[in-house]
Amino acid sequence: MSKRIEVDGLNVYYSKFKAVEGVDMTIEPRTVTAFIGPSGCGKSTFLRTLNRMHEVIPGAYVEGSVKIDGDDLYGQGVDPVLVRRQVGMVFQRPNPFPTMSIRDNVLAGVKLNNKRVSKSESDDIVERSLQGANLWNEVKDRLEKPGMGLSGGQQQRLCIARAIAVQPDVLLMDEPCSALDPISTLAIEDLIEELKKEFTIVIVTHNMQQASRVSDKTAFFNIAGTGAPGKLIEFDDTATIFSNPSVQATEDYVSGRFG
Ligand SMILES: Nc1ncnc2c1ncn2[C@@H]1O[C@H](COP(=O)(O)OP(=O)(O)OP(=O)(O)O)[C@@H](O)[C@H]1O
Ligand SMILES: [Mg+2]
Repeated sequence: MSKRIEVDGLNVYYSKFKAVEGVDMTIEPRTVTAFIGPSGCGKSTFLRTLNRMHEVIPGAYVEGSVKIDGDDLYGQGVDPVLVRRQVGMVFQRPNPFPTMSIRDNVLAGVKLNNKRVSKSESDDIVERSLQGANLWNEVKDRLEKPGMGLSGGQQQRLCIARAIAVQPDVLLMDEPCSALDPISTLAIEDLIEELKKEFTIVIVTHNMQQASRVSDKTAFFNIAGTGAPGKLIEFDDTATIFSNPSVQATEDYVSGRFG
């Protein structure tokens, strides 16, 4: 299930604007990788290229390659819909479908994939995904109630359940805790620790403690100035990035001197 991601010479554009330049990175299966760096350096932009969500923006495109276990996501004839099924995404703000029940929210992605599932199969998927997202016990008696009726932290775990219901290989998370209180944040961090047994996980975060708590590897991105492209400055073991980085800018950023 969990897979290796290899990024080679990636440039990312919004029409003429080059937002991210020259990223090379290998992300190993069953690891958590944190993306850190100041606002506007291209973390979200780069993250979205890992499941071809970037190109849904008119004029947006990439150069270079992103391979998942050797298969180029941008290869000829590759269906972006299948890519997004293989590489799931969780966003900054919990975004359950407002009119759907908890149960239907979990199944939304599965149904979108046009899979016909029996009642007992879907019961299994709902329970397994909610267990996986560590939400089952809190909602098992109210599965038919609206997903919007949950707390923020529960909604975010519901979105994680929805993402893992389709059994992706990779899970991308863009600041998944930034709208959550500290207790819910810790619940999500514990969950990430569990999920990495099964998935390759990439998380964008502005929270340095969070990066050091949850990730095995950390990638520091930076920009030279307004209008300049974001670049990957340093990518290493999280402990190294936080205690003994090789680049001065990394040291300045992780110690809170800018950003
Ligand atoms: N839809 C878009 N169209 C044009 N430019 C965009 C678009 N989205 C982002 N950008 C630009 O791309 C650059 C990188 O933005 P991005 O959102 O990836 O940064 P980020 O590192 O995620 O920042 P933050 O930490 O604030 O979320 C910025 O200059 C931004 O203005
Ligand atoms: Mg962002």
